[in-house]
Amino acid sequence: MDKFVVRGGNPLLGTIKVSGAKNSALPCMAAAILTEDEVILENIPQVRDIETERKLLASMGAEVELGYGRAQHRTRIKCGILSDPVAKYEIVKTMRASSLVLGPLIARTGMARVAMPGGCAIGGRPIDLHIKGLEAMGAEITYDHGYLEARSPNDGKGRLKGAHILFDKITVTGTEDLLMAAVLAEGETIFENCAREPEVTDLAALLIAMGAKIEGAGSSTIRVHGVTSLHGTRHRINPDRIEAGTFLIAGAISGGDLNVDSCDPAHLGALIAKLEGCGVRLDVGKDCIRVRSGDSPLKAADISTEEYPGFPTDMQAQYMALATQMEGTSVVSENIFENRFMHVGELNRMGANISVQGRTATVRGKSPLQSAAVMCSDLRASASLVLAALVADGETILDRVYHIDRGYERIEEKLRGVGAQIRRMGDVFGRK
Ligand code: EPZ
Repeated sequence: MDKFVVRGGNPLLGTIKVSGAKNSALPCMAAAILTEDEVILENIPQVRDIETERKLLASMGAEVELGYGRAQHRTRIKCGILSDPVAKYEIVKTMRASSLVLGPLIARTGMARVAMPGGCAIGGRPIDLHIKGLEAMGAEITYDHGYLEARSPNDGKGRLKGAHILFDKITVTGTEDLLMAAVLAEGETIFENCAREPEVTDLAALLIAMGAKIEGAGSSTIRVHGVTSLHGTRHRINPDRIEAGTFLIAGAISGGDLNVDSCDPAHLGALIAKLEGCGVRLDVGKDCIRVRSGDSPLKAADISTEEYPGFPTDMQAQYMALATQMEGTSVVSENIFENRFMHVGELNRMGANISVQGRTATVRGKSPLQSAAVMCSDLRASASLVLAALVADGETILDRVYHIDRGYERIEEKLRGVGAQIRRMGDVFGRK
């Protein structure tokens, strides 16, 4: 398994480019199921989860081409014939966002067979709200040996029916999954208490370009007027706001002067406000943010993760790494997931002083960090360890970096390009 070797101490200087958003690309690729026409998506990040989604769609019979290289980062998807509308366990177990095919499959074919996604490192990750919404639209759901089977009315021959759906909890992929089910349903669907994340808005923009009738995406109430079919289109995916936020913290923690380019600052409001409050210097442009550490030491500040536009849970681990370098105590409250402090133990092994009580972590800074051999456990925890290694004294070895490859495109090359001493090391015994 690949490892990273990172020698701390270099300030990051120069310009680092943000890729397309993984969490926009995944629902947008699933949306191609809704039409037999070709859908072209641009600014697709070259990350492991996108390859998993390609395999998933291809396993159902879709034509999926993923082009990369300088001018590409483009995918062409054509779901002409979906010969096998099944999301198999072998794929779903590696990426729970596979459940995003549920809504579009039922809307397009009248049926879906999707392996129930297990939990993951950060929590149980149920999909009960997805299921409740589909049942409200008339889908019949049964369970069979770990698979969820869903049929539209009239034993899969009829269309889903518009409904009034109020989400018990705000769910990002739940909103996306049901939005894709509703666009081909009969009549009007009203969603309340929807997720407002930019990834939902990006998906809605794609669906509208395909001929869907959607109002209110980005707000907590979305109205959909069902249509009978959708057509192909070409759509450019949003920049990845979490990758951009991760690089902002990389610039701050390393004491550098970094331009985070090709991002959308409008999606980073909560993080920008928090970092400025800690004393990080940010110059916010149209699609680029310059980050420098301030003249005086960073000041500790609490965070509480909330749904968008609040402080994103996907930035909690990265912020915690920075908080270890702040003067004072920062209290980190994780309100979205039940087990999202897997990075704490590893940060403490590097010399941090963090204690955890339930969903609250208390970070006492400033703690000089030392290099160590550390283990990656999930995507954002891995990013947190890379950030800590950038400022640690000596050479840190990060194991199981396949976690970080799920959501960051060639992160070691991008960081090396702005002065970080980081390299990827294949398994010492050559194992893959
Ligand atoms: C999306 O996950 C993102 N993934 C996550 O990013 C992100 O952390 C999360 O939203 C929150 O912002 C993708 O978009 C592919 P939720 P999702 O449904 O949709 C509970 C990353 O690092 N819930 O908004 O799965 C759930 O347990 C990943 O890129 C139910 O109870 O998250 C959680 O406590 C990690 N029942 C809360 O809601 C449901 O049916 C929010 O989860 C669905 C969710």
